[in-house]
Amino acid sequence: MQVLSSPKTLKKLVALLRKKNKSIGFVPTMGSLHEGHLTLAKKSIQENNFTIASIFVNPLQFGPREDFKRYPRHLIRDKKLLREAGVDALFLPDADEFYPKDFQTTVSLSRLSQPLCGKSRPGHFSGVATVIMKLLNLTSPDRLYLGLKDYQQCRVVEQMVEDMGLSVLVCRVPIAREKDGLAMSSRNIYLSSQERAEAVILSRALSRARDFIRLGQRNVGFIKREILQTLRSASLARVDYAEIVNARTLESVVKLQKGDEVVVALAVYFSKTRLIDNLTMSVG
Ligand code: PAJ
Repeated sequence: MQVLSSPKTLKKLVALLRKKNKSIGFVPTMGSLHEGHLTLAKKSIQENNFTIASIFVNPLQFGPREDFKRYPRHLIRDKKLLREAGVDALFLPDADEFYPKDFQTTVSLSRLSQPLCGKSRPGHFSGVATVIMKLLNLTSPDRLYLGLKDYQQCRVVEQMVEDMGLSVLVCRVPIAREKDGLAMSSRNIYLSSQERAEAVILSRALSRARDFIRLGQRNVGFIKREILQTLRSASLARVDYAEIVNARTLESVVKLQKGDEVVVALAVYFSKTRLIDNLTMSVG
């Protein structure tokens, strides 16, 4: 696996691959890798001639009171995991070179960045869109792999690609979960043992919502109350939001109708750790 930190060298590599007509898959990450990240990498390896992964804890997407400084960093282990998975090249940009002092351009989306996580993380999705735009320009991939764990992030990037006419196919990858159902996340290591035990409540609440919808419940208010009641059974959980939204626009849905594509999305705090999870489904 080639490890590159200079954007210039990366561009040279990409130009060479293009000349040889090789298809490129790109997997952006912030490191501290787990099985969820590796499913993205494996999918890219299957579907492309060459896979580039990146590890960059992007300062632009963290709020001033968020965990940028203490975000877990395990570079040696991460490199080993990516090499073993079969990733061809790893881009490790240097923050000062990636965002030089003079850096001043940002990408922001007017509507998709507002609801759900956008409410408690103002500026977050602009940080994500900006870093992804820059990484896409450097890697010019045929396919970009994103996890459905961060559903709103997927939609923001898909919309940016659509709006800006970028020539990349966005590939959504299903959520990888621990045995008990907890969605894998680099932030799960922040949880105490009691919090970790209680964190299973997010996926339980989602399953309960899915069961209600499958059994014909169409009243969103009712389903949301049931979700909240389930979440409140975990004594350490503090709910940030529990919403049912349109899968494309992320606007709230009031009454479910046959054929609707919806997302049930949750964000729950355990102490300072904010966990998210979601479920996409079409209403039958
Ligand atoms: P990070 O949290 O490291 O996630 C990198 C990618 O892995 C994202 O596409 C995310 O959705 C996916 N992922 C994380 N946990 C997952 C899980 N349990 N199952 C499936 N996929 C999972 O998301 C980011 O980094 C950043 O915002 C980034 C896109 C790299 C931009 O800085």
